[in-house]
Amino acid sequence: MEARRILDFGTMRNARRAGFVALAVLMLIALMTAAGLHAGTTAAGTVPAGKEVKNPFEGRPEAIKEGDKIFDTKCSECHMDGTGGAGPNLTDDTWIYGGSDAEVFETISGGRKGGMPSWKGELSKDDIWKVIAFIRSIAYKK
Ligand code: HEC
Repeated sequence: MEARRILDFGTMRNARRAGFVALAVLMLIALMTAAGLHAGTTAAGTVPAGKEVKNPFEGRPEAIKEGDKIFDTKCSECHMDGTGGAGPNLTDDTWIYGGSDAEVFETISGGRKGGMPSWKGELSKDDIWKVIAFIRSIAYKK
């Protein structure tokens, strides 16, 4: 009688452990599927392509100076000294269209529906990066 009870107890524990292992395996599969799906969307381009793109002129004084000039002639009409006017403040941490290099580039290059013109016909890729380098340099400084 006593031995059977011990045996029953043991079987129960094994069953519980088996359940736990099964759950762990299921969770692992779920995690792997989620990771796979995520990689899939990235490859398909649902996530903005090149979100990892970095500004090649970031922090370079000469480029920032050139970006400043471009900003004064093309952008300050609406963005004033960067803090906004007709356009939004570009020196704070709030970005309507995202604040990553890739997103800010896309905004300037392609324009945005709320009155931000597209500059790709007027500014080279390098010029856009330089103006972004300038914008980064005045973050919270104005
Ligand atoms: C004719 C006015 C005008 C000019 C000139 C202009 N902008 Fe804008 N800009 C706007 C407006 C208006 C918005 C907001 C658009 C919206 O809300 O859809 C904007 C938005 C932006 C944003 C997005 C801000 C955010 O929060 O996501 C950036 C970056 C920007 N402008 C940079 C520039 C740069 C750099 C230049 C010069 C090359 C420039 N703008 C010239 C009017 C202008």
